[in-house]
Amino acid sequence: MSSFLELSQIAKAYGPAVIVEDFNLKVQRGEFISIIGHSGCGKSTVLSMIAGLSDVTHGGIILAGREVTAAGPDRGVVFQSPCLLPWLTARENVLLGCDQVYYSAPRRERREIAEYYLTLVGLGDAMDKRPGELSQGMRQRVGLARAFALAPKMLLLDEPFGMLDALTRAELQDVLLSIWQREKVTALIITHDVDEALFLSDRVVCMTDGPRATIGTIMPVPFERPRSRAELLESPEYYRHREQLITFLEERSHERPADLRPYVPAETPENALQRFLRNPRNLATV
Ligand SMILES: Nc1ncnc2c1ncn2[C@@H]1O[C@H](COP(=O)(O)OP(=O)(O)O)[C@@H](O)[C@H]1O
Ligand SMILES: [Mg+2]
Repeated sequence: MSSFLELSQIAKAYGPAVIVEDFNLKVQRGEFISIIGHSGCGKSTVLSMIAGLSDVTHGGIILAGREVTAAGPDRGVVFQSPCLLPWLTARENVLLGCDQVYYSAPRRERREIAEYYLTLVGLGDAMDKRPGELSQGMRQRVGLARAFALAPKMLLLDEPFGMLDALTRAELQDVLLSIWQREKVTALIITHDVDEALFLSDRVVCMTDGPRATIGTIMPVPFERPRSRAELLESPEYYRHREQLITFLEERSHERPADLRPYVPAETPENALQRFLRNPRNLATV
């Protein structure tokens, strides 16, 4: 079976600075993938290339059989902060996208779609509120409703809950999972929270540190769905996976995968002697 999203030999460079290199990933339809890695390694760079917000320097991205060349409403993007228009209500903010995507549908239907998703994210009673009257968590719920309402082929989330407190974060993870399960949309989330990655996804993609960041390892997440946070926290297997991810981040993220290690010339007697002589402390003892 061919994959739904395929990144082939993706690289991104800004001038001479190579941020991401040799990035290869195949995602199946309906899969939930997370990407973890240290801050600054290039996670957002990868996501914005899939979103079509940033060009690839090398390689190609195929989504649902088509090459990604520009941004489009077939990819719902959710950032850390939802960028809502402050003078519009929650409903109007979601409708803005619906009006573009379902432009041939009657206005009443577009409104129903917006209201349906706002209800799913738990904002059934707050549709007429403006962003200023909503908490940060509620604003991010509007962001999720807006993304899902476009019926995207793919949902791309860049640390969407990064600014929320732990309780709100857990609530929104539940909201995200329940709608994802209902809609069967293919999803990719960036996070630096290993618990979030394990709770949400089918596979965790671990990125190596930049520059020239790439995939260090991919961990399949075996827990059955629907998942319960309480049950996971009681499973020894959960802690084993958690430990492996933390070990990767702490110890292995700076290792290059075998085929990507830069060429280092073997030590010869000549350059060992050169190195010895270049060190002034050694000269003093000769
Ligand atoms: N427009 C740009 N020009 C030059 N360097 C950039 C640009 N955007 C991002 N970078 C660099 O790319 C690297 C990866 O950034 P980013 O993808 O945002 O990391 P992450 O999301 O993993 O924290 C960083 O070192 C950053 O400074
Ligand atoms: Mg980022």
